[in-house]
Amino acid sequence: MAVRVASRGHGGAEPNPMVGCVIADRNGNVIADGYHRRCGGPHAEVDALAAAGSRARGALALVTLEPCNHRGRTGPCSEALVAAGVSEVIYAVADPNPLAKGGAARLRECGIRAFHVPHAAATELALPFLKRMHTGLPWISAKWAQSIDGAVALANGDSQWLSGTRSRRLVHRERARVDAILTGIGTVLEDDPRLTAREVRVHRAQRRVVFDPDARTPPDANVLKQDNESAAPTTILVDPTSGNDLSFARRVDLLAARGARVMPLGPGGTLETALRALAGEGVSTLLVEAGGGLVGRLLREQLLDEAWVFVAPLLVADDVARRSARGLAPEVLAAIPRGRLLSVRRRGEDALLHYRWARVAT
Ligand SMILES: NC(=O)c1ccc[n+]([C@@H]2O[C@H](COP(=O)([O-])OP(=O)(O)OC[C@H]3O[C@@H](n4cnc5c(N)ncnc54)[C@H](OP(=O)(O)O)[C@@H]3O)[C@@H](O)[C@H]2O)c1
Repeated sequence: MAVRVASRGHGGAEPNPMVGCVIADRNGNVIADGYHRRCGGPHAEVDALAAAGSRARGALALVTLEPCNHRGRTGPCSEALVAAGVSEVIYAVADPNPLAKGGAARLRECGIRAFHVPHAAATELALPFLKRMHTGLPWISAKWAQSIDGAVALANGDSQWLSGTRSRRLVHRERARVDAILTGIGTVLEDDPRLTAREVRVHRAQRRVVFDPDARTPPDANVLKQDNESAAPTTILVDPTSGNDLSFARRVDLLAARGARVMPLGPGGTLETALRALAGEGVSTLLVEAGGGLVGRLLREQLLDEAWVFVAPLLVADDVARRSARGLAPEVLAAIPRGRLLSVRRRGEDALLHYRWARVAT
């Protein structure tokens, strides 16, 4: 139940983790629940304790993440639980944040029983946060639509629309919940996407990021246009070593003049350093909506955590149609990392497959 409650914070809590808390009496009857609604707002424990009031005295608190022990934008949850007089706390994921950990130890010092009971669904909920804490990188999910035979676009670039309206609505919902959306210059030149969340409730102002080593993004590209004043500037990732000629510098200046923020890629156009820098600025979840060029590069750098693949009911049957990933030339099938299939769902006439490669230490 705490996991279910926590997931209501998806899109609001990030870059903090989604956290849920249930207060129950000694017989397991639920007294109140709460969750972390938005970054900077009350933590789940404080939310649940407020709903429980004096009924929290002597009760049991079940939390998806170890209660924090530091005074950030809100006070320490360990102290709030002590003040409310709960008798026992069960938490599912230990807090890896060096600034906030130690909540369970603090509770024990104050005579409250505190137990760590690992729970798979609670860990799942905290994965982006755990990954950022352990590696300094955002949680990277790629999404694409493909035909049954693996084409993401025709040879001439036509890709609209492979998937059905229900699938596309789901993508807009996901866009509205992530911290950033990453695309590649091939997609910008071919499709000119806006990459904004439309006709859905927008939970956060996501950043738009373009992998564009040679700074070829057209100054009038839709991805540079701001739908609202508060939107963050679009970030263009360029490779300063790949084009140090005058026209490259001129293109970069032009993009900056259009309000874009230009960030350098790592040596050889690698993405990891730039993604690390974005994570340092609070990007904890990154949705990749690109063609095979960028997906292949993410695979080469072993940066992809998961993929959401919409399989549309059509066969393109063209040898030179574009594929969902390219640029690698593996010679041994057994050496290719296998993902895990997490779910198979139906969206109208499309199948939605969810794969994961990430192995996050918890
Ligand atoms: N069905 C879907 O869900 C979906 C989603 C998004 C896009 N698409 C389709 O995917 C196609 C675009 O795919 P894409 O693979 O061309 O592009 P992409 O993945 O959007 O971006 C990768 C781009 O970066 C370029 N690149 C890679 N390394 C580079 C380097 N070191 N220096 C300079 N440039 C570099 C690639 O150029 P090279 O071409 O020279 O390698 C490519 O243009 C479009 O037809 C679009 O419609 C489909």
